[in-house]
Parts: sequence; C-alpha cells; structure tokens
Amino acid sequence: MAYRNLEITHRGAVRTITVNRPDKLNALNRDTINELTLAFNQAAQDDDVRVVVLTGAGEKAFVAGADISEMNGYTPVQAQGFSRAGQQLMSRVERLGKPVIARIQGFALGGGMELAMCCHLRVASEKAKFGQPEINLGLVPGFGGTQRLLRLAGRGAALELCLTGAPISAQRAYELGVVTRVVAPEVLDEAVNALADQLAVAAPLAAAGILDAVLQGGEASIDQGLEFETQAFALAFSTEDMREGTSAFLEKRKATFKGR
Ligand code: COA
Repeated sequence: MAYRNLEITHRGAVRTITVNRPDKLNALNRDTINELTLAFNQAAQDDDVRVVVLTGAGEKAFVAGADISEMNGYTPVQAQGFSRAGQQLMSRVERLGKPVIARIQGFALGGGMELAMCCHLRVASEKAKFGQPEINLGLVPGFGGTQRLLRLAGRGAALELCLTGAPISAQRAYELGVVTRVVAPEVLDEAVNALADQLAVAAPLAAAGILDAVLQGGEASIDQGLEFETQAFALAFSTEDMREGTSAFLEKRKATFKGR
C-alpha cells in the first residue's frame, strides 16, 4: 500500500521503514503513527522480512518528537487517544518477533527517543542527540518514555532526562545504555547494513525466542524469566533450523536457516 508519511524499501530480507516528513523533522502526527502501525503489522506478517530498520528521512532528525502543532489543540480525551495510539505502536514494534534496528542520524527527541527505545538495537551517529524535552512544553512523555528509559538506563537517568528535558549526546546515550552502538556519521549506513545483514541470516525462530525471553523476562521475576528461557530453548528443538545449525557445526560447514 502507498503511505503518505513513510517510505518503505527492501534489501533482501531487510525492510527499511523511513518516517518521511523531513520538513517537520519527521515529527509523529496521528497519521504517521497510524501508518507506522500498519507498516509494522505488514512487516510482522511478511515471512520474507527477517529484520526491520527504522529511520527518519534527511540528515537532521531521526524523529524530533510527537507533533506539537497537533497536540496544541488536543482535549484531554484526544490526548488520551494519542498517547494510547503511540504506546500501542511502540509495543507493536517491541513485540514484532523480529529484530528491529533504529538507525539514528540526528535528533531523537520526545516521541523520537521513545520510538528509538522500543526498537531492539539502536545504532547512532556521533551527531545524534537524544532527550525527553516534554517538560519544556508542560508535558509528560506519553509514548512510554518514562517506562522504557527507566528500564534501559535506570531510575537516575530516567529522572535526570525527563525532569531536565535537556538533550544528551550519542556518546552519553551510549554510556547510559540507551544506544547500543555509536559510529561516525559517514559509516552509519555501513554499520547499520552490516548489522542488519548479520541478523537477516540468523535463525529467525531462535531470534524470536531470544526476543521473547528477554522482553518478557524483563518484566518478570528471575524464576519466571528463567522459565520463559527454558520454554524458548525447548521450542527451538522442534525447528529444522536447530538441526541445521547443529549439523552444520559438526559437518564444519556454514548453516542456512529457513525459519522452519
Ligand atoms: N512537532 C511539530 N513540528 C516540529 C517538531 C515537533 N516535535 N519538531 C520540529 N518541528 C518543525 C518546526 O516547527 C519547523 O517547522 P516550520 O519550518 O514549519 O516552522 C521544522 O520542524 C524545523 O524545525 P526547527 O525548529 O526550525 O529546526 P531547528 O534546527 O531550529 O531546531 C529542534 C531543531 C529539534 C531543536 C527543534 O525543532 C525542537 O526543539 N523541536 C521540538 C522537540 C520537542 O520538544 N520534541 C518533543 C515533543 S513532545
């Protein structure tokens, strides 16, 4: 289907979803949130897609936040619907069952930082800037920022970023565990593509099991988390890919995984 605010491209098993409103620094208006939800639903259903890269158009911004011009006129009821739609999108991304890489070249502020944080891996250019500036607008983060930042970087960092609203560098975000890799701007695409290619040939059902165990385990007690892991581990033994991976090792050849 054709999207007004997104650009979708394919490279083998890697699907790239680009938020395409560069004149508004890719701010998330309601239409864009709806389109992203559709695009991620499609990526989940398409067996040919093994990895998703999420990014923003242009050099300047990944996503500079929720659309302030739209929010300015919202009633509390509309704001509630907007927050829920944003949160549902973020949870959809997080629970996609396939690895999602955020490619962050510039501003990832407010809803942009929240969108990056629901991805599984974050690769940032040294030029990227992160922050939860909602407080400067008299607002509270509404797309899961208080919760995902808390879980990724701890209470101190979550409170520091949300209460000051001040932007931080990619390097600082890396130190806080918010981004997983920081690279020079000129090698950002190379780094993202290499990571995506690596994940695209990994065993998809094992990847889904890892995502599930880590994401569910993060919200559970250690005993429940270990049980999730045992179930995912056991389920892997029902797959052709597990026989292929272990046989390939024993036969000293490269494994080919089919997602079965
Ligand atoms: N919502 C709506 N529009 C936004 C936006 C947002 N979150 N962020 C940027 N834009 C728009 C600007 O209004 C401007 O539109 P215009 O040309 O029609 O006036 C355009 O994008 C370019 O932004 P501009 O502010 O001119 O760029 P800049 O380089 O001077 O500043 C930022 C860049 C990111 C520092 C600044 O745009 C900003 O602070 N954005 C808001 C960040 C924010 O608070 N996000 C959280 C929202 S909850």
